[in-house]
This record gives sequence, structure tokens and C-alpha cells, in this order.
Amino acid sequence: MKRIGVMTGGGDCPGLNAVIRAVTKTAILEYGVEVVGIRNGYEGLIHAETMPLTVSGVSGILLWGGTVLGTSNTANPFKYAVHHENGKVEYEDRSRNVCENFEKLKLDGLVIIGGDGTLSSALKLSEMGLPVVGVPKTIDNDLAATDVTFGFDSALVKATEAVDALHTTGESHNRAMILEVMGRYAGWIALRSGMAGGGDVILIPEIPYDISKVCESIRERISKGKKFSIIIVAEGAKPAGGEMVVQQVIEGSPDPVRLGGIGHTIGRQIQLCSGLETRVTVLGHVQRGGIPTPFDRWLATRFGVEAAKLLFSGKTGSMVALRGRSVISVPLGDAVSELKRVDPAGEEVRQAKAVGTCFGAE
Ligand code: F6P
Repeated sequence: MKRIGVMTGGGDCPGLNAVIRAVTKTAILEYGVEVVGIRNGYEGLIHAETMPLTVSGVSGILLWGGTVLGTSNTANPFKYAVHHENGKVEYEDRSRNVCENFEKLKLDGLVIIGGDGTLSSALKLSEMGLPVVGVPKTIDNDLAATDVTFGFDSALVKATEAVDALHTTGESHNRAMILEVMGRYAGWIALRSGMAGGGDVILIPEIPYDISKVCESIRERISKGKKFSIIIVAEGAKPAGGEMVVQQVIEGSPDPVRLGGIGHTIGRQIQLCSGLETRVTVLGHVQRGGIPTPFDRWLATRFGVEAAKLLFSGKTGSMVALRGRSVISVPLGDAVSELKRVDPAGEEVRQAKAVGTCFGAE
């Protein structure tokens, strides 16, 4: 191999730059090859938009949030949206462009850093013959093949800080404070920030809730003299027999559904049934921004080094993953075959219940 590419796809998260730095340094310093950054996720592979990556160029980016390469969570090489002047949108398979540009850019291998959507496309490209190694990222922590994704810890710190802040103001005013956090179809951010911050109610997609049970637990707290409550709700939470709140459907996108809004729905219900004044905070993209935690920088660096090594040892079609204390490689297919979701009957949920947390269900 003489020249490799690095791409970040999907929603950004803290730690992407640490991976870019680690791949670049390992490739240049240990293997003496040239490294090219692909701009804006799959857009850059479809349109051959690149930037050079050098050791001096990546120096200092370890602790920056976002990605110096740019990213896109709408560009899908297998269902690429073409917007016409008359407003019509057509979807085209542009995977051939990706393969042609791979040749044109004289690349010998690609490190693709992404979540479920980006890595699903990476798998298909690898099946078409591109030598690809994947690196799992996402604040949602929902990839089953790795114990944890980088970005999650940074989001968790932000969410927990928000729970802590809502605690002091909520208690001062005797209010029900609702915090809506991200996580898509998985409740990891809500569960762990709720546990870490001592939340009274945690609502997650994996445990559909009954609002009357939530109200009961808040009223019970009031009867014991606790005139405030902290409720953490995952954006994907839904009532038993009901649906998630969808903000937008983006056809063609590898992440086609934008969630959000459940916090306001339950806020109105809780105000009515508990009599407590209620305030809703939607934490949003704050969870994805800012500098990565030391854990995420450490994990992202390890992932980046091992991804480069996998590529150079010819173990393509694979993804790096953390298992226990080791970084291992797993087939890309395993990486995208199932989402890792909270086990409603699992240890963590049982432990949260043991300290009195209400999940709005039995
Ligand atoms: O997958 C990461 C994530 O932040 C989800 O938690 C959230 O649902 C989604 O991306 C938001 O995407 P966007 O940046 O398109 O609003």
C-alpha cells in the first residue's frame, strides 16, 4: 500500500479527530504511506473531494470536537439524493462513482469511521471489492459488536452535567424537571446519565412507559415531602402501545428518521397529573459537540492505530471493536447486523430500580 484514505461519515461526535490523527500518524510513521482525508463523508467519495493529511497537519487535533474532514449524515452512495431545479428529488445508486474515484485518487485502502448507517454502506462497498476497515463511532453506543463506541462517554458527561444542573434549580422551585436526551433507538445515554445523576424517572425506548405509573411515582415522592422530580427521557422513548415522536423523515439518508419532542409531550402530562410546575429541557446537539473526554480520546486513539494496522495487514472488510480491555477486529457484517439496546430485564435496569428509579412500567 502506498496511499490510503480516511473518511468520517454520519453524525459527528467527540473523538473523530483523535481517530484521524491516530490513523494518519500510524500510517505515515510506521508504514511510510501517504494519507488522504476524504471530505464530508460519502459526498467526498462520490465527488472525489479530498485534503492531504500529514503528521504536522494532524498535530494538535487530538482534543478538538467535530471532524476536520467534515461529515454528512444524508449522503448515501447507494441511494444518493439528486435535487432538481423544479424541486423534484431523485435517488441514484452512486456506488460506481465511489469505486471509480477510489481508483482515480490512487487509493489502496480506506478507513471509514462511522455509525450504523455509514458502516452499512462501508460493508456494501467492501463486498464490491474496496479494501475497507471500519471504526465504530456514535454517541448512541448502539453498535452490538463493540463494548462501547467513542463519543458516548463525552455525551454522557454532558447529559449528566445537565441532570445535575436541573437537580439544583428543580429542587429550589419544587418543579418537575424533564431532560430529553439523544440516543436514537437506544436508551444508553438516558439510562446512564439518569443513574449517574440520581434521576427519579428514566424513560427509554426499550421499556415502553405508562404515564399513569410515572405520575404515581412523582405523587408518591410529593407525599414523602420531595416536591420536585427529575425525569430523564430518551428521544426514542414511547408509551406502551404508542409510537416514537418523529420530527422528520429524510428519504435516502442512512439515518432516515429524526426523533425529538417526547419531552414536551410528557411535560404537559406530568404537569396535569402531578400539579407540579414543569419545565422541559431538550439537550440536543450539545451532546455531540465540544471536546472529547479523556476516555474517548484514549479509545479513539487505540481504534485509529489498530484500524491502520488492520488495513496494512490485509484484514479488510473488518471493524475495530473494544472487548473487555482489548481492541480486536470483527467482520464488518457483525458490526451492522444488530443494534445494541438496553436489556429491560438486565443488571443495569435492575440496579436502577433497586435505588428507586421509576421506568414507567412494572
Ligand atoms: O446518532 C447520533 C445522533 O445524535 C442521535 O442521537 C440523534 O437522534 C441524531 O444523531 C440527530 O441527528 P441530526 O444531527 O441529523 O439532527
